[in-house]
Amino acid sequence: MAIEKTIFLKDLNETNSFGKKLSALLKPGDLIYLSGDLGSGKTTCVRAMLQGLGFEGKVKSPTYSLFEQYEFDFTVNHFDLYRFKSPQEWEDAGFSEFINTEDVTIIEWPEMAKGILPGPDLLLNFFHHDDLSRNMTISSLSKRGDECLQYLS
Ligand SMILES: Nc1ncnc2c1ncn2[C@@H]1O[C@H](COP(=O)(O)OP(=O)(O)O)[C@@H](O)[C@H]1O
Ligand SMILES: [Mg+2]
Repeated sequence: MAIEKTIFLKDLNETNSFGKKLSALLKPGDLIYLSGDLGSGKTTCVRAMLQGLGFEGKVKSPTYSLFEQYEFDFTVNHFDLYRFKSPQEWEDAGFSEFINTEDVTIIEWPEMAKGILPGPDLLLNFFHHDDLSRNMTISSLSKRGDECLQYLS
């Protein structure tokens, strides 16, 4: 059953601590989608997740590359599908193999591959509130997502 929580992210610090908290819950095979307007905080949240996992380098937004990969105990695949012209590009690019039981895969703009992507464990939806703050809803779409959601607030 889909469960949803709304979280108010008062400022950048709160988005960063949320990302860090989420990173501590990640397990191989997790699939996480982030939706919301440009500048609503998706990449910021992913950056905090990667830093939470211990990545110390520069986290690039994959807006142009479409895809960046990070190695921890497990692999994290970070996609940004903003520049997709059609959902079919997901399969044409051979990206489907990155959704598997071993990797954590995080996708910004999943709606650009609607109808092709499988359902995620968690869907994070970001909304502008004002310059400094954002509203976010987290929807759980699997048992695994439910498990994570109970630790998130
Ligand atoms: N509470 C907040 N959470 C996330 N980003 C914020 C917040 N307040 C201000 N910002 C700013 O908004 C921008 C979000 O950009 P980004 O994360 O790249 O968005 P997206 O990936 O959704 O396009 C950044 O410049 C960030 O500093
Ligand atoms: Mg982004």
